[in-house]
Amino acid sequence: MDITVFPGANQLAAAVAERLAGHLCRARSLVLGLPTGRTPLGFYRNLVRIAREGRVDFSGATTFNLDEFLGLGPEEPGSYRQYMERHFFRFVNIDRRNIHFLDGSTPDPEGECARYERAIAEAGGIDVQILGIGSNGHIGFNEPADHLTARSHVVRLRPETRRANAALFAGDADRVPHQALSMGMATILHARTIVLMATGSEKAGCVSAMVEGPLTTRTPASFLQLHPDVHVMLDQAAARKLADQVRF
Ligand code: GLP
Repeated sequence: MDITVFPGANQLAAAVAERLAGHLCRARSLVLGLPTGRTPLGFYRNLVRIAREGRVDFSGATTFNLDEFLGLGPEEPGSYRQYMERHFFRFVNIDRRNIHFLDGSTPDPEGECARYERAIAEAGGIDVQILGIGSNGHIGFNEPADHLTARSHVVRLRPETRRANAALFAGDADRVPHQALSMGMATILHARTIVLMATGSEKAGCVSAMVEGPLTTRTPASFLQLHPDVHVMLDQAAARKLADQVRF
C-alpha cells in the first residue's frame, strides 16, 4: 500500500481532489467509484472549486456510488443519492445519464444488485475507486462478519454503522435503515486504482488494522492489502497508530 500522511484533513482533501482532476484531464471518460460519509465532504468541496475554476471537466465521466440504504428512494432526503446531489452532482457538468446508483427503493434487491454489477461491467469496470473507511473497518457497507460477499448484495447494518450515519437523519440513529445495498469486496477490489481517505483519531485503530493487521473478514478493509494499486491518504490523527509513519 502506498501511504501518504498530510498535516491535516484540509490538505488531504485538496490533494486528492487535485489528483483526481489531473487524472480526468488526461482521460476524460474515467469511470469513478464514489463514497459518501463525512470524510469525503472536503474532497467534493475541492472538486467543485476546481470545476468552477474551469480546471476539470466531468462531461465524459461516469460514476458508480458504493452503496445506498435499502428502502430509501433517490428523492428521499436521507438517501446517499441526495447526499451526492447536495454535495457534488448539482455543481458539476456530469451527464446525468452517466450517474449510477443502487436503487434503495427496489422491490427486488437481489435483481437490483445483479443489474448494478452488469452496469459496472458494461461501463468497462471502475478506473478509480475512492473510499472512506468505517471505524469498525468496513468499506462501502461491507461490515465485519464471519463471511464477506464478493459482489453487490444486501447487507444488515451494525449498530455502530447506523449511529455513524445518524447525521443524515437529523441525528436520530433510530431512523437509519437497518439494511443497505452495497458493492461487494470483489466489486471494489476489481477497480484499477483505489484511493482510500481517512481522517481523525477515531480512524487510527481501523487504519492500523487495515494496513498492518492480518487479512481478516473482521476488518474488511484489510483485503485492500491484496490490491496492487492502493493509495491510502491519511491525516496525522488517523496515522498515529501506524508503526512506520510516512510524512507528506
Ligand atoms: C459509511 C459509508 C462508507 C463510509 C463510512 C465512513 O457508513 N457506507 O462508505 O466510508 O461509513 O464514514 P465517515 O467518513 O462519515 O466516517
